[in-house]
Amino acid sequence: MKRRIFSGIQPSDVIHIGNYIGAVKRWVASQEDPERDNIFCVVDLHALTVKQEPEELRRHILELFALFLAVGLDPNKSTLFVQSHVTTHAEGGWLLNCITPLGWLNKMTQFKDKSQKQETILTGLLDYPVLMAADILFYDTHEVPVGEDQKQHVELARNIAERFNFHYGETFIIPEPVIPQIGARIMALDDPQIKMSKSMAANKGHAIRVLDEPKEIERTILRAKTDSGSDIRFSKDPLKAGVNNLLTIYQTLTGKSADAVEADFADARGYGDLKKRVAEVVIAATDPVRKQHHQFIKDRGELERLMKMGAEKARTISEPRLQDVKQKMGLVL
Ligand code: TYM
Repeated sequence: MKRRIFSGIQPSDVIHIGNYIGAVKRWVASQEDPERDNIFCVVDLHALTVKQEPEELRRHILELFALFLAVGLDPNKSTLFVQSHVTTHAEGGWLLNCITPLGWLNKMTQFKDKSQKQETILTGLLDYPVLMAADILFYDTHEVPVGEDQKQHVELARNIAERFNFHYGETFIIPEPVIPQIGARIMALDDPQIKMSKSMAANKGHAIRVLDEPKEIERTILRAKTDSGSDIRFSKDPLKAGVNNLLTIYQTLTGKSADAVEADFADARGYGDLKKRVAEVVIAATDPVRKQHHQFIKDRGELERLMKMGAEKARTISEPRLQDVKQKMGLVL
């Protein structure tokens, strides 16, 4: 049997290079593996857990779906869809809510971080990992490729699955988080002590967005925070986090070993050279995506057709498990 892969991304803003390296780029590679059945989702219901402008959210959903296509995800090879188009997620999320202890959600570090930034904390923000568990579990998922920050949420999904199976009998597959060894946590360019994040991507200098123009990318990288030294090497020293982050971005985009990366910079004259070459590599990776995106976003009719096709496939996969769970929980079908 093929291994089922499920992952998702929020349409909160256009995606940044951390999302690309930590998740989307790996999805494209996963798609080419004949042993895998891949499902990738624009998780728009998750985006609603913080305040959104309706027109802006709608635009971001379309942009993100077009970006899936632009990076090379193929609707004929993978299932690509929008979460709210398939009711399993909201419905399944409710069913899982009713077996998830509140104490488990209070422990989520992302909730603690995010809730501090909100004036009014919405219930959905606390409940967000249960919806994510529904995304994963109702598709009989084996592997969930994500960046480091989502590991705790996938572990929660495992705990929910185990609890359900214990109370109602073997039902859900226990999914594995798959975190890359390199690039699981790309740091902010203006502050390499913190993670590059979508919520701050609008701040100048924080992130490279995949759809940024080459000039903008170059400017952001040239301004990236480093240190007062000149040694271009991978390092765990917090003072060297800026250089380490630039090297990590370079490494993941070139696919080279750490030794080969350091060798590439043996002749570099200082961090200026490093930044210039990192910018070249980032532009080489993102420029074709930006150009493709420009084409895909123009054809709204085609995007809607592909969204519909993906949603139908997704429904066919998740609906039987939803019925099974309702039946086991005692609902009359
Ligand atoms: P989201 O939209 O915040 O991020 C999408 C993916 O990008 C990864 N990521 C990073 N990787 C490396 N460095 C970074 N700085 C960085 N920032 C983000 C994230 O780990 C993620 O893999 N809750 C999820 C979306 C989701 C989901 C799911 C994922 C909803 N349902 C089911 C997997 C399976 C989220 O908000 O990701």
